[in-house]
Amino acid sequence: MRKKIIAGNWKMNMTPSEAKDLIRLLKDGCNTDSSDVVFIVPSIDVTTAAECLKGTQIKLGTQNFYFEDKGAFTGEISAKMILDAGGEYVIIGHSERRTIFKEDDAMINKKLKKAHAEGLKPILCCGESLSLREDGTYKAFIEGQIKSAFEGVSEEEVKNTVIAYEPIWAIGTGKTATADEAEEVCKMIRDCIKAIYSEDAGETIRIQYGGSVNGSNAKELFEKLDIDGGLVGGASLKDDFIKIVNYKA
Ligand code: PGA
Repeated sequence: MRKKIIAGNWKMNMTPSEAKDLIRLLKDGCNTDSSDVVFIVPSIDVTTAAECLKGTQIKLGTQNFYFEDKGAFTGEISAKMILDAGGEYVIIGHSERRTIFKEDDAMINKKLKKAHAEGLKPILCCGESLSLREDGTYKAFIEGQIKSAFEGVSEEEVKNTVIAYEPIWAIGTGKTATADEAEEVCKMIRDCIKAIYSEDAGETIRIQYGGSVNGSNAKELFEKLDIDGGLVGGASLKDDFIKIVNYKA
């Protein structure tokens, strides 16, 4: 039985002071017994957030890192820095990183391998644009993203990866994929992991859905067989996130 994982991707929102207020609003209401709950905060908020989350089971992560250990990489942060500041998870390959910051499949593969090498838990994002959805090639596209991200990644590491299926047309648009549409792709991704690695790896890996998840649609999505939780953007910045985490209640 896979444990659900529900992560809030704060994106470029919340100063450290605002992060304190948001954590105060959310931390007591989130039930962490049946799901792993993760706040994915801006890097500069990690230290403050770690302090505020002491004594809770809520986990912390960042939205990006660079695959080198240290050195002349102005503007970047390393896996060790995240871990040392109290972070445990990292998002890799979010569509906003791929499109706005031009991260390609080769870089995403390097980041995935480095995260595992350092003991940082990756949430690997994949998902198609509206045009790929409409022309029907989205499954092949996502399969390509998965294959290239996992090149050279071991079976043990795969089991410790979380994949977030996030159709780009559903991110921040209020247009959620239907539960059946989301399930179709999450199952396809799981089958793809089974084909590349093993039945066991496919059954173990956790696959989230992301894209306009909110307190009203979370239950229907998360009850699908192959959807192991969600990556939540907009709704993670308000108390609706509690409703999402406690979707069973
Ligand atoms: P959204 O964002 O929930 O605001 O659609 C999801 C994401 O980009 O991770």
